[in-house]
Amino acid sequence: MNKLLVSLLLTVGITGAANAAGTVVGDAAAGQAKTAVCGACHNPDGNSLAPNFPKLAGQGEKYLAKQLHDIQSGKRTVLEMTGMLAAFNEQDLADIAAYFASQKGSVGAANPELVARGEALFRGGDLSKGLPACTGCHAPNGAGNAAAGFPHLGGQHADYTKKQLTAFREGERTNDGDATTMRTIASRLSNKDIEALSSYIQGLH
Ligand code: HEC
Ligand code: HEC
Repeated sequence: MNKLLVSLLLTVGITGAANAAGTVVGDAAAGQAKTAVCGACHNPDGNSLAPNFPKLAGQGEKYLAKQLHDIQSGKRTVLEMTGMLAAFNEQDLADIAAYFASQKGSVGAANPELVARGEALFRGGDLSKGLPACTGCHAPNGAGNAAAGFPHLGGQHADYTKKQLTAFREGERTNDGDATTMRTIASRLSNKDIEALSSYIQGLH
């Protein structure tokens, strides 16, 4: 394993443990009843149809709960969701996370011309740039690591993934913790790398 990945895993691991303290247990059935307003963009089952709205179905519960907290507190800016989470308490957010995590995520298709480059980067990283393989945290099939809070990526819309990788690279998305794990990784990606990875991830399962 390369040095960068080891140090990233260590710092992410420590943050993960701190977040786990005091976690509220979510109830998926109760969560469904609280998601009526979300369906317009994310679809009622969380498999959004619009490429710029992320799929939430099958996403890890811990990752979802963290994003909901970050969006609610303003740590992560989602203009489309302004004020939408304001009335929810800790239990509501946990229930909503449990609901979308319990749904089955759909898979898209990769652009065949981009698969080779996307797969090589996803599975192997790029030693010459100090880029670790994505599989170390997001798993070879893109399922992520739910317990660690590493998000499920497989099947996600390419447009959304591209926007996130670019936002991490440009420092516009900063909620990846003090370890700046994804900001560091994305800073090593070119536009073409991001294009290839996003397309590959859309078809990954
Ligand atoms: C008007 C459209 C819209 C509505 C309604 C909406 N969202 Fe979103 N949501 C978005 C967009 C757009 C993003 C991604 C923003 C970005 O590109 O960073 C997002 C991101 C998210 C994310 C982060 C996903 C990830 O993979 O990191 C979660 C979780 C989420 N929304 C949950 C909800 C919930 C729960 C509701 C209902 C209470 C809701 N959203 C309502 C548009 C919407
Ligand atoms: C050391 C672990 C680690 C490695 C290696 C890693 N990631 Fe991540 N990634 C994370 C974590 C943790 C998050 C969640 C950050 C947060 O809490 O917002 C994340 C978030 C993401 C997101 C945002 C998901 C969403 O739904 O918004 C994308 C896209 C992503 N990573 C792609 C990649 C790609 C592509 C690679 C390989 C080039 C990679 N990651 C390598 C740990 C890692």
